[in-house]
Amino acid sequence: MAHGSDLIPGNTVKYLKQHGPQQVLRFTTCGSADDGQATLLARLLSDSRVLFDDPLADTFEREQLLLNMVTGAATVDVAVILIDARKGILTQTRRHSFLVSLIGIKQIVLAVNKMDLVNFDQDTFDSIEAEYRDFAVQICLQDITAIPLSALDGDNMISRSERMPWYQGHTLTDYLETCEVDVSRGNDMSAADSPSGEADQFECHIVWMADQPMFVGRAYRLKIGAQLVNMNITALKHKLNVNTLEHVAATELALNEIAVCNISLDRPVAFEAYDSNREMGGFILIDRLTEQTVGVGMIHFALRRSQNIHQQHFDVDIAARAAQKGQSPVVLWFTGLSGAGKSTIANLVERQLFALGRHSYLLDGDNVRHGLNRDLDFTDADRVENIRRVSEVARLMIDSGLIVLTAFISPFRAERIRAKQTIGPDHFYEIYIDTPLAVAEQRDVKGLYKKARSGQLKNFTGIDSPYEIPIKPELVVSTESETPEQSAAQVIEFLKKEGII
Ligand code: ADX
Repeated sequence: MAHGSDLIPGNTVKYLKQHGPQQVLRFTTCGSADDGQATLLARLLSDSRVLFDDPLADTFEREQLLLNMVTGAATVDVAVILIDARKGILTQTRRHSFLVSLIGIKQIVLAVNKMDLVNFDQDTFDSIEAEYRDFAVQICLQDITAIPLSALDGDNMISRSERMPWYQGHTLTDYLETCEVDVSRGNDMSAADSPSGEADQFECHIVWMADQPMFVGRAYRLKIGAQLVNMNITALKHKLNVNTLEHVAATELALNEIAVCNISLDRPVAFEAYDSNREMGGFILIDRLTEQTVGVGMIHFALRRSQNIHQQHFDVDIAARAAQKGQSPVVLWFTGLSGAGKSTIANLVERQLFALGRHSYLLDGDNVRHGLNRDLDFTDADRVENIRRVSEVARLMIDSGLIVLTAFISPFRAERIRAKQTIGPDHFYEIYIDTPLAVAEQRDVKGLYKKARSGQLKNFTGIDSPYEIPIKPELVVSTESETPEQSAAQVIEFLKKEGII
């Protein structure tokens, strides 16, 4: 997860209730570092009713706590949202509150801190409270208690402040005394009595936590309960502007952003709606390459079509078609910079396959982008979708028994790994056409590098858009000191060695 990720929580703290049955209430603090979280916690600790679980040492531990909260492994009864009275409601306040609402924490303290720095001014407090209530009601947070504080001096923390006689409400600890403890915590009651099901497509909320954006069409791993599956974002329905609560159209999701998405899993999982069961409805997204947690999500519901569309099985299958053609259907996935020589080499390879009587098809970036993918551009998001579609087409084509050659830059490792999964690892050969940028630029067959360098062409691979070199390709062809014919011969040699031809 990214260090820039600045989502809740700060800490969870236990509070031992004195009145009624002895119960332990848990609360979490949300705010940025200088809103006074540490001071507030230190001040509270002087009350014997307040116990730390374990102070969270670093970002990693805070992130872990957030994951636990989302997946129900940690339950929190109250969220204390810290405000610096001088700054008022910030974007981050809204983001934290939205997340608190998603997680289902119902009792909220709006802790308006540093009142001493605004002369204990009631108007300042009132207007912060009013603004917050306006916002909160829109995100379904109803139970809000605003308290004016000076954590540093102790005003309204444990005992009532004499410096704010205009405030008649609870002190912070008095308020905690009135809060309800989630009694279902720890025993799996909700799991036992609410209906559950199995499905492989869902609508959900996703909260993104990585520096690298989330892309529609990209595949990730999803962990829900003890189940670990491959998933892919099939649609980003809208992302949220947390300030205005507007729904914004988008194809990618940046660090800390929140969106409603449709997702598709590679096999059905047992689930429940997040609202009725956090353990069975909350999930974690993991990057397939780095194995880092990149986001969390909450399931709204299963998409009906996942139950209504079944896979049809036909008698004439890939094996039958391959046998009829007398060949092994495979995908030769050429990847490399623009101008590396992918299309040229693939073309020469296909000519030889044709001469050998093989049935083949060459899918080429420039051509596919004129037809099937003519709606796509060269943004990262569109390249992800470009390769997703090409992978699906290549899969259909090898299923029809063909030897498929693809010539796309396919700059991202994630999509090449995805293509391998879609097509089937046994049928997939990644061939890296290794041409140094300087050489490709020197050749500049289409004059595009020149345009890119002069700023006329944006997002050009190798210039202002990345190319991620394959880590373990099946074959590397270096073109720098070879003719295209020699490179093609290397590929043919490789196909013979692998027993493909
Ligand atoms: S990919 O990145 O999505 O895999 P693809 O292989 O389909 O790219 O298309 C690359 C071809 O489009 C290049 O060979 C080049 O001719 C052309 N092209 C036009 N604009 C760009 C750009 N910004 N970056 C890379 N290639 C571009």
